[in-house]
Amino acid sequence: MRTDGDSWDIVTSVGLTALGVATFRALETLDPEPMIHDDFAAWFVEAAGEPHFQQILGEPASAGSGGLFGRFMGVRTRFFDEFFAAAWQQGVRQAVILASGLDARAYRLDWPAGMVVYEIDQPRVLEFKDGVLAEHGAVATADRRALAVDLRDDWPAALTTAGFDPGRPAAWSAEGLLPFLPGSAHDALFERIDGLSEPGSCMAADDFGRGMDQRHFDMEEKFFGPNPFGNLNVHDLWYDDARAEPGDWLSRHDWSVHRVSPFDLAATYGRPITDLPSDLPAELLDRLQQAAYISAEKHR
Ligand SMILES: C[S@@+](CC[C@H](N)C(=O)[O-])C[C@H]1O[C@@H](n2cnc3c(N)ncnc32)[C@H](O)[C@@H]1O
Repeated sequence: MRTDGDSWDIVTSVGLTALGVATFRALETLDPEPMIHDDFAAWFVEAAGEPHFQQILGEPASAGSGGLFGRFMGVRTRFFDEFFAAAWQQGVRQAVILASGLDARAYRLDWPAGMVVYEIDQPRVLEFKDGVLAEHGAVATADRRALAVDLRDDWPAALTTAGFDPGRPAAWSAEGLLPFLPGSAHDALFERIDGLSEPGSCMAADDFGRGMDQRHFDMEEKFFGPNPFGNLNVHDLWYDDARAEPGDWLSRHDWSVHRVSPFDLAATYGRPITDLPSDLPAELLDRLQQAAYISAEKHR
């Protein structure tokens, strides 16, 4: 399904996954006790006109296993929101959102004065996003600089040309990204982040999908209901070639690493996930519990 240098728009291939996660952020925003507020997400779903996600937004009950998936998206979004807030409270004034997709943090977070937020994603994804935001007259709450560049290419050159200062600490996020990169680009991503990070920089990533194969996806569908992404098999878009383990790699390169499970975070956020099917196979439960959010700080 994937090829070197492949590209997509917002309704195809990896681009469609950005629309999918935006749909579940929109649903979580509509929850009576939402973990997050993303009022921009629904704009993107409406503008894209993709039937499966439009239907979910119009009829949340049709989301199937998306109900649970949506809760995980709420947890994930809040984790990254809090990560950026902690960074700016430490005085960091440049953020890099890698694979930004339809992430509207540059518009919805209360960034401090002087904050520059870089977003990196593929050209047609950013073109769609910018068009929708412009149509709605959205105004960024930071100095947003969107860079249309592939993360398998020389993105550090584009970033520094756009004004990123490697001499000052930065906050980096890689949310919903890692399995979509081939192993070489995945490992280069961490090396490049490290090379561009002054002490005091921080990064956050979700470490998911490793060791998940088609059997796990089939089990998920059996126990949780229809695929939240409709006919799109996300597993077909992932690479499962060899790659570094992100937490280990960062620890070995002078980053202090913290891992937290989405289950623990959900409980912290007051929405514990207590309704997993009791007959869930141990193997699948184990996989789900291995997913983690990583935050790391560079100490020298
Ligand atoms: C699941 S979406 C996550 C988007 C966003 N981080 C969020 O959580 O809403 C995956 C994103 O990764 C981007 N992506 C994947 N591989 C990429 C690459 N090689 N270069 C640039 N963007 C990439 C896709 O375009 C898409 O926006």
